[in-house]
This record gives sequence, structure tokens and C-alpha cells, in this order.
Amino acid sequence: MCGIVGYTGQRQAAPILLDGLSKLEYRGYDSAGIAVRDGNGEIEIVKAKGRLAALSEKTDCGRALAGTCGIGHTRWATHGEPSENNAHPHLSDDGNVVGVHNGIIENYQELREKLLHNGYHFYSDTDTEVAVKLIDYYYKKYLGTPVDAINHAMVRIRGSYAMAIMFKEYPGEVFAARKDCPMILGAADGECYLASDATAILKYTRSVYYIGDLEIGRLKDGAVTFYNLDGDEIEKEKVEILWDEEAAEKAGYEHFMMKEIHEQPRAITDTLGSVLEGDSLNLEGVGLTDEALKEISDICIVACGSAYHVGVVAQYVIEDLAKVPVRVELASEFRYRKPLLKEKELVVIISQSGETADSLAALREAKSMGAKTFAIVNVVGSSIAREADHVFYTMAGPEIAVATTKAYSAQLIAVYCLAVQMAKARAQIMDAYYKELVKEMTLLPGKINKILEDTGRLQWLAARQANVKDAFFIGRGIDYAISLEGSLKMKEISYIHSEAYAAGELKHGTISLIENGTLVISVITQSGLYEKIVSNMVECKSRGAQLFGLTTYGNYNIEDTTDFVIYVPKTDEHFAASLAVVPLQLLAYYVSLSKGLDVDKPRNLAKSVTVE
Ligand code: M6R
Repeated sequence: MCGIVGYTGQRQAAPILLDGLSKLEYRGYDSAGIAVRDGNGEIEIVKAKGRLAALSEKTDCGRALAGTCGIGHTRWATHGEPSENNAHPHLSDDGNVVGVHNGIIENYQELREKLLHNGYHFYSDTDTEVAVKLIDYYYKKYLGTPVDAINHAMVRIRGSYAMAIMFKEYPGEVFAARKDCPMILGAADGECYLASDATAILKYTRSVYYIGDLEIGRLKDGAVTFYNLDGDEIEKEKVEILWDEEAAEKAGYEHFMMKEIHEQPRAITDTLGSVLEGDSLNLEGVGLTDEALKEISDICIVACGSAYHVGVVAQYVIEDLAKVPVRVELASEFRYRKPLLKEKELVVIISQSGETADSLAALREAKSMGAKTFAIVNVVGSSIAREADHVFYTMAGPEIAVATTKAYSAQLIAVYCLAVQMAKARAQIMDAYYKELVKEMTLLPGKINKILEDTGRLQWLAARQANVKDAFFIGRGIDYAISLEGSLKMKEISYIHSEAYAAGELKHGTISLIENGTLVISVITQSGLYEKIVSNMVECKSRGAQLFGLTTYGNYNIEDTTDFVIYVPKTDEHFAASLAVVPLQLLAYYVSLSKGLDVDKPRNLAKSVTVE
């Protein structure tokens, strides 16, 4: 949540900062601001409430601010309402220190008291203002360097942060500090950049540094220097980002979400391709040899949101194919409930961003208990990727829309690979079936393309459903897992109240909500459960529900029960989620579109939830 950028070099900073923020706006979009300083060290700050466009207009696309060094911020409010006053950058009382921040300072009240006691005043409700003034306080108290002052502040601050800071007496320099929040730094052609994620600086450099926890970076004269908490200089390796700039653009689509829905076939092909050797899989490169797979006694999958839904699919698929017990936990629960882990249990963390605060904390909790950890992550070099024992990178490329689509699909493929290889290594499936499953995975992209070729019926349905108040997604087994994701997509971008239910559970309470016209969307891809789900659908229909069925070609009898049906191609039923989710993504997209909502940036949300 929140995006930060920084630049120092020879060019005018403001347009570069605004451009960077435009790539990070998905991280937060309730207000934005930039601070730019000119050669005399004078700092000018401009902030605006609302979308970045308001800031851009206020600064004449950045032309109104002169200076070659600056920092910027796009905000997702945590402390203090969205307002110009609370927007970043924040400034110390005498203008000595200015900073932007992503994260949460947990002990900000205590620090605020301390600073008030020392004569500081506060103009905003933010924890960031406290952090900036604390740095100023230590800068003056110890008369040291900016690095010393930031170090003193880092020792006192509890919480998470990625900060970019400028000091009045150090023109042309930007300082960075990080703990538990993403930030990358880059230097190229005599210029330096920092940003919350790579998409903001890809245009300028693909060669970046990842700053570690409790480390400081200093951007000056086209070079970045790093320091540890003792103030000692430390060496860092540069990492090459393989994503290209185009991948982070809309490429002619109206919204990133639609572009990313269409990128799913490629995301699957690339992710599968990274572990595919001929007609077999090889997970050795991601740290799981067949020997290691044989040793695992249990699997605990931990994740949030859609990544958690991938975990629910994985539970069905892994247990069925590999016969290994799997449980799936919400990271926000796992991290605080003192979970019991077995000696040979593998903890799998699934995360697109690799920075989700709860998932990262869960990973650390699992590691502290001595568990072996395996991460399925999209963002290269992210915290979860770096801290897990082994990483399987999904190859979805940058995902910008807040509602995940292609990362979800790439995660599904990764868990299928785990399930199938594990089943083979543990001799739970015959070689012929193994080959068939691998082959079937390679066919999924083509089948998704087929679904994407004809979206007319879904658009028509979406236009008719735009005004519904409630929607229920029901299914059994893997279809229940798909329903969870379909329901989340619908609610997060269309603001329609939506719930996913295991169909058999409806009659234990929720069916009382079904009345004339309630939209019930049934996912029916599991042949063994076909009749059971049809019974549940009939129960809803007899209470007035409008029934939408999502099933595979061939199940044409379903038309007797439903008001509207969408068919997807057949696949091995273990992989049904990969196909069935696509019409549900499209449905949510078209409903949001027909309601005139901001598809890519739904209200109250941010792409990476780096705060608790
Ligand atoms: O980056 P992560 O995969 O860890 O994010 C987890 C969730 O925040 C994320 O999947 C969220 O639920 C999506 N917005 C859903 O579309």
C-alpha cells in the first residue's frame, strides 16, 4: 500500500516522479504528492487529494516545479483520512528533513509524545510526519550525518517502512530506509532512482539493487551506496529485471485487468515452461527433488485473498493426486495462532507481490519454528522470495490491476506442477497418467484462448446483472474453490455483495437469503458431484433464484435447470479451475464496466497489502 519514488540526476525531477507514480498508482490512490529541490537546496512540495491526475494538473504535468532531485508518493490512507494535509511528502518543523513513507509506524503515538515534549509540532494525523520529525530530531541531537540520524530513528521505530528522505544540507541526495516494505534502487547514466516496485523505473534501468531490512541507501551522483544499522558501508549485487517496460503498459486494452486476463495463456505457458523438460516436469530448479518430495509428510499452504483461493484448489488437487495431507490457512490467522507444524511438513507461501505483510509474517513464523518453506511468488527479489528456503517464480510478468487474474492463473499452474510431480515421485500415479496430466497442462493456454475468443454472451449477462444487490457463487470440491475466486472478483470490482458457498452448506443457514431474483452462480466442472450440485441449484431455484450455470461442454442437460449457461472446454478435472475462472473474471469485469466503475483501481483497495 502506498507507492514511493525518488530521483536525482541531471533532468527535471518532477515529470520523472509523476511518471513513476503513474506506474505505482495501483498501490494507493487517495492522494499524492511530490517534493522537488532546486540547485539552491530550496524544497517545493505540491500535494493533491484524489487520483494522481489531480496532482499532475496542479503541477502542470510537473513543469511547475524546477529541480533535479525529488521524491514522490501515492497514498493509501492508514493513519489519517485521505486529505491534502495528510498526503505525503511530510516536512520537519523547520524544513530540514522531508520524507515519503510506505508502511505503518506502530509506536507512532509514543514517538509523537516524545517529539512534542522536545518542542515539535504536528500538522497532520499521519505516522509519517512522526518518522520525518524523529529523523530530524536525531540529526540535530547528534550532529551527525543523515545516515546516523536515520539509523537512530530506525532503532526507535517499530513497524514497517520504505522511506525516501531528503535533507536540506545535502542537495542532490536522496536517502532510503527500509524495513518489511518493498523498495528497489537503481542507477544508470549518472542518475539514480528508487521506487516501491520495478515498474516505476523500468523505463530508465533494468539493473537494480534490493535494499534489505534495516538498511539505508544513499543516492548521489549516479551511484547508490548502502549502509547497515551500524552505519558501515555494505556491498550489494545488482539484479537484472527481466520484465520489459511494455509489459507494464496497457497495450491497447482499455484496462489493465482485461489485458492481464488475455495474458493468462502466456503466463501459464511461461510458468509451466520454467519446469517442463520434454514431457516431464523437473522441480529440482525450484528446490524440490523427487527425494525431497517423497520426504514431505504434510503440506501447510499459507496465503491471503486470491492466493489463498489457489491454496484451496491445491488442497483438493494435491490430496487427490499425491495423497499427502494438505491444509490451507489464511496468513493473517496463521501468524498469530501458534500453529503446530510437523517435522517434515512443508510450508508453502503463495503470493503474487511477495510483499503481503501477513504472508511474510507467516513465512517468518514458520521459519522460526524450523519448518522448511517453499514460496510461489511472482515478483522477483521480493521479500518472501528472498526469505523462503526455495522459490518457484510464477512467470506472469507485472500485474497492475488490483484484481488479480494472470498471477492467480500462474499460481494455479505452479501448484498443479507440485501436485503432479509429487504424485509421481511418491508413486501415487502411473507413468502414463503422469504424462497425460503434464500434456493436459500444456493444453490449458489454448483452451483459455478459446474462452477468450467469444465473450459476447458474458457481456450480455453482465449488462443484465449490473443492478443486482447480492450474488451467491456455489460449488462443490474444486468448484467450491473456483467459486471463492469468482465471488471475490465480483465483489472487489463491481461492489456487488457476493458470497461463495460450498453448495452443500447452503441449507445450513444461507439459503434463507435466497429470494425472488437473487443471482446464484453455480460452478459445475466435477462430474462426480454433478447431481449433488444440481440438487442444490434446484433448491435455490424453487426459492426464486435466477440461476447461472458454468460448466463444461457436453453437460447440456444443465439447461433444463438454469436460466443461463456458459460452457468451458473439458480438461482433466483437477485443472478445471484454470478454465472456469476465466468467465468469472470476465463477468466481474463486464459488470464493473457496465456500472461505470474504475475496474483497475477499485475503492478502498490497493494491490499489495504491505500493512496488517
Ligand atoms: O500479493 P499477494 O498475492 O500476496 O496478495 C494477496 C491478496 O491481497 C490478493 O490476492 C487480493 O486478494 C487480490 N486483490 C484479489 O484480486
